[in-house]
Amino acid sequence: MRLNNKIAMVVGAGQTPGPTIGNGRATALLFAREGAQVLAVDRDIDSAQETVELIQREGGQGEAVAADVVDEASLEAAVNHCKEHLGRLDILHNNVGISVTGGDAPVTEISTEAFDRIIAVNLRGVVLACKHALPVMRAQGSGVIITISSIAAIENYPWVTYKASKAALVTLTQQLAIQNAEYGIRANVILPGLMDTPMAVDNRAQAWGQTREEVVAARNARVPLGNKMGDAWDVAHAALFLASDEARFITGVSLPVDGGMSCRIG
Ligand SMILES: NC(=O)c1ccc[n+]([C@@H]2O[C@H](COP(=O)([O-])OP(=O)(O)OC[C@H]3O[C@@H](n4cnc5c(N)ncnc54)[C@H](O)[C@@H]3O)[C@@H](O)[C@H]2O)c1
Repeated sequence: MRLNNKIAMVVGAGQTPGPTIGNGRATALLFAREGAQVLAVDRDIDSAQETVELIQREGGQGEAVAADVVDEASLEAAVNHCKEHLGRLDILHNNVGISVTGGDAPVTEISTEAFDRIIAVNLRGVVLACKHALPVMRAQGSGVIITISSIAAIENYPWVTYKASKAALVTLTQQLAIQNAEYGIRANVILPGLMDTPMAVDNRAQAWGQTREEVVAARNARVPLGNKMGDAWDVAHAALFLASDEARFITGVSLPVDGGMSCRIG
């Protein structure tokens, strides 16, 4: 019970439908298994509700709230829900991120609309969640922010908006860490590599006209550790560590969860 009595707001706690579990859902489930009370926030309220049902079926505590990270008022309302109904906000987990489905493309082909849309979701959404969560955490004198970036932030990755937004989350996290250390607030960022989630695998299979097995085989072949992708539980366990008091002296770090992929860069 490493998160006993903690209140955790997981933004993007639903998931893209598919045969495997998503990062946000696995993290919400693991936080609840470790004793946290989870506010599952998602623009898809049915999907967030499914996550809550999974939590409750295991005997955990959770509730779902609808919010779209491009809509500041809805994010503010979700934070207020934590404060007013759950009493505090200990952990903010920023999981929302889109790429292919937002119309991302290489720099020579990107449209202004797609660029603005993806930046608003992947980057501005995190900034706005922090904007509203930080005053609550500062008043408490404690808090943890975990943001999901991607190994795309540092590797050769051709889709320009995903690359730029995920890279920005790394430096944003460093600034959040240094600016809020005096309030006892930690901020860290996770860089998942290739994970077997529906968002990454099934969306690509659909976009590229390939089978799931073909996409899985191609992704597995790129992973140094065992030639096999990670899964959402690998991300969730990293998030659990960063959220827990075991990481009490760790802030401002970027943690790759990538089976060694980033070692190719150095
Ligand atoms: N799977 C991988 O290989 C991989 C690799 C690197 C990074 N990531 C990152 O992991 C995160 C997502 O993982 P996942 O498996 O949970 O994805 P997912 O698509 O299964 O879940 C994301 C959730 O976010 C919600 N969402 C989307 N747009 C939203 C918005 N505007 N407002 C509120 N909610 C919104 C969706 O409804 C969905 O429930 C992303 O940040 C992604 O960039 C994944």
